Amino acid sequence: MIDTHCHISIEDYDDIDLVIKEALESGISKIIISGCTKESIVESLKISSNYSCIYVTIGYHPSEADLITTDDLLLLEKQIQSFPVVGIGEIGLDYHYGKENINKQKNLFRKQLELAEKYHLPVVIHSRDATEDTISILKEFPNVKGDIHCFSGSKETAKIYISMGYMIGIGGVVTFKNSNLYKVVEEIGIHSILLETDAPYLTPSPYRGTINSSKYIPLIAEKIADILNISIQEVSDITTENATRLFDLK
Ligand code: NI
Repeated sequence: MIDTHCHISIEDYDDIDLVIKEALESGISKIIISGCTKESIVESLKISSNYSCIYVTIGYHPSEADLITTDDLLLLEKQIQSFPVVGIGEIGLDYHYGKENINKQKNLFRKQLELAEKYHLPVVIHSRDATEDTISILKEFPNVKGDIHCFSGSKETAKIYISMGYMIGIGGVVTFKNSNLYKVVEEIGIHSILLETDAPYLTPSPYRGTINSSKYIPLIAEKIADILNISIQEVSDITTENATRLFDLK
């Protein structure tokens, strides 16, 4: 199984070796980590170069929109050229805390989609309370494909993204008792799903309240198998194929 999206940082984990060892022991073959601030990009590139099972996507998160300069975008492009990154992200729009810097967010999002197009890389999309604008900006880049990470919208929205060539990232939220995400899983089926933890956040049930890590991917796979009434092996095989194809993992 592949954890297609998480964050690994020494700030969150005392022992990164142990985090990776535990993930491998629980049946995870590959982990895609995301660096999404200037600092975490540097750290993520370093971590991924130290472990053959770790792949990396880089890109500035929408919450960084006020901080990122033209020079920072040039630095990102240089990093894309210099390291074997498998995608750009997480990038997108986040209106949860307000819309004051909406134009800066949109500008940063478009600039990074241009890089994805230029370097033929998939994108990992963060969209929070911003579905309409996310869809309309992605439509400006019909050649770019990617992952709608930590999807939490309606089944109708999921179908729109899929029709645009995107995969849907399903994480720990699907295991929460009050979550309606099962309706999305039922509707879209296993061929459009990527497994992800978004660790260290969003720990699946029954470990909510503790720090998340890639070792919990099987809990998410188990829940999806349950919803779709298929075997865990099938969830594992098909989501691994989905991720391998989208991110061109070797
Ligand atoms: Ni994330």
